[in-house]
Amino acid sequence: MNATILSDNEKHFPVLLNEILSIISPQNGGTFIDCTFGQGGYSKSILKFPKTKILAIDRDNNSKKFADLLKIQFRNRFSFYNLKFGDLTSLDLKNEKINGLIFDLGFSYIQITDYKRGLSFKSQGPLDMRMGLNDFSASEVINNLGQKDLELIFKFFGEEKDSKKIAKNIIRERKNNKIDTQKLVKIINFSKKKNYKRTHNSTKVFQALRIFVNKEISELIKSLIASVKILEKNGLMIFVSFHSIEDKIIKTFFKLLSENNKISRYIPEDEKKVNILKLIKKKPIVPSEEEIKINRPSRSAKLRYAIKINEAKNFEEEVFKKFKFLIDIEKLSEKLWKNILW
Ligand SMILES: C[S@@+](CC[C@H](N)C(=O)[O-])C[C@H]1O[C@@H](n2cnc3c(N)ncnc32)[C@H](O)[C@@H]1O
Repeated sequence: MNATILSDNEKHFPVLLNEILSIISPQNGGTFIDCTFGQGGYSKSILKFPKTKILAIDRDNNSKKFADLLKIQFRNRFSFYNLKFGDLTSLDLKNEKINGLIFDLGFSYIQITDYKRGLSFKSQGPLDMRMGLNDFSASEVINNLGQKDLELIFKFFGEEKDSKKIAKNIIRERKNNKIDTQKLVKIINFSKKKNYKRTHNSTKVFQALRIFVNKEISELIKSLIASVKILEKNGLMIFVSFHSIEDKIIKTFFKLLSENNKISRYIPEDEKKVNILKLIKKKPIVPSEEEIKINRPSRSAKLRYAIKINEAKNFEEEVFKKFKFLIDIEKLSEKLWKNILW
């Protein structure tokens, strides 16, 4: 889910902002990467502290107009890059010492209510779901991938109980007509055993498709690895996530690098004793009741953070192995251009 909403009077509420500020202590200065700039809620608040510097990135180039405004105000302390956070290591950081990286995962209110993007099941247009810098759209997935592949995507990226039936009905229906957003909503509705009470019938399938189209699993895993490499010693990596798949990945990664015994037998004995990360809190930080009252979508947010305490070596392979199952599901998209569809 998204982190940020605009209220009726267009006020912007970056989620868990006070908690993030108290973790990074910007009054002491420092250079931070805002890895999900969006409308710049975090960047703006951090830049109010004079000794800070922000490098901001977002895969959606629509964020640039918000970045341009900050650039006018903070010319020497702010820069913006239209980049995916999975490609963080491609940033030129030779002259920078990075004290913190902040990730507010998912999509913004502006993105979900831009119905041309087809991120919402309320959209009328084509099934698109691309957040920016993508290889394919949701329409290509729904109208081309095979039944078993669709079922796996809905089951493991959406935790959808009726994934089999929904996938089967998609294959049947698309023989007659191309499936757009509202057609997909209809297929989900007649496939579901139970109708929704608290969450919309389509929520899980739409979440699954969004994750798949934007390769959110490998983006997250690559960004966790890159953060460890980029950070200065004692630097902070902070992740705010909105669904259990992301939270589980972050929790598992932090555990792997903060409890030395979890690291593989392939690592030499002397390096095994060294923890790379330190956790201050094992449990996630969640929004207060007050925050939830003014920003309802924040209710599912979970913040986890870690401190880099040692330089990291030889850990990537272990991490990719741990999440291989999920990464392999994302790789089903390769069938779209290798033409091995059925
Ligand atoms: C919840 S919004 C961030 C809101 C921001 N904290 C604020 O206060 O305005 C998430 C943003 O992350 C961006 N995003 C999602 N996945 C990304 C990725 N892999 N790389 C870069 N940006 C990404 C989205 O385009 C969106 O603008």
